[in-house]
Amino acid sequence: MEALALERKEEQKRELKERIAQLKKERNAIILAHYYQRDEIQEVADFRGDSFLLAQKAASTDADVIVFCGVHFMGESAKILAPNKTVLIPDERAGCPMADMVNVEGLRALKKQHPNAKVVAYINTSADVKSETDICCTSANAIKVIESVDSDEIIWVPDKNLGDYVSKFTDKKVIIWEGYCNTHDMLTVKDVEEMKAQYPNAQFVVHPECRPEVVKLGDFVGSTTAIIKYCKESEHQEFIVGTEDGTGFQLRMDSPDKTFHFATKYLVCPNMKVNNLKKVVRCLETMQPQIYVPQQVADQARASLERMLQVK
Ligand code: 13P
Ligand code: SF4
Repeated sequence: MEALALERKEEQKRELKERIAQLKKERNAIILAHYYQRDEIQEVADFRGDSFLLAQKAASTDADVIVFCGVHFMGESAKILAPNKTVLIPDERAGCPMADMVNVEGLRALKKQHPNAKVVAYINTSADVKSETDICCTSANAIKVIESVDSDEIIWVPDKNLGDYVSKFTDKKVIIWEGYCNTHDMLTVKDVEEMKAQYPNAQFVVHPECRPEVVKLGDFVGSTTAIIKYCKESEHQEFIVGTEDGTGFQLRMDSPDKTFHFATKYLVCPNMKVNNLKKVVRCLETMQPQIYVPQQVADQARASLERMLQVK
């Protein structure tokens, strides 16, 4: 009975994938999927990537329609960078709690207190907030972006953990907002120590959205892409992974012979997981939900995103 149910599920998946391929052709659409998406979504993606790579892809695609499988701010960034394209997201409820921890009023008040500071915004922010900033960054380029800014004083929003990490690599004064990622911030020193005791030969690779005391334990610290690259190229065979569990899809694909242990069962972003194949089909059929960003906000936010894309 169980085997039959499994077979039926696989068949349904195959049908959904075929329907997606057909709809993609009809709509001239591409599917962009963040590394934290469910495996089934990553399997149908034209491009998988971290927030930086996906922003680059959105800015350069020839497709008419972008299906953004990630969270809301990522879809917004795609729309801002490709204003003439239709940007669909499979489920509007896919938000990012960290992005919601900073708003325009709060940021304006902080800017007033530090009139000489330039604002560097993690891409995990709303379009409204981006429109109030000087330059965006992702975890893949944060240090380079800070160094590129023409000011010795930086307001950093919204991730306090990434802010703490990057501030160690610059002499600039970094004024850090108090936001955090509910998922990465869950990981504790105790979790990591227990895993290290269980897997003494494993290297601990960690995302800087984790708490500073956890990041300190890392054999390697980097963005999602940097972690994937490091594990692929490393001579080590076993890793404890301190980032969201969807990353396992690319890690296992790149290094099928290596072993990856996820540091806890809590390293799952529930917002990233609301997307599924059925919703991808539905959004391509109905062309809804679409991302809209008011033009003035988009123009200001685009300047900030494009400055980031130009940082070498
Ligand atoms: P990156 O994609 O930049 O690694 O960011 C991690 C993240 O939490 C995205 O929401
Ligand atoms: Fe936001 Fe964290 Fe989820 Fe990324 S992993 S979308 S930062 S809550």
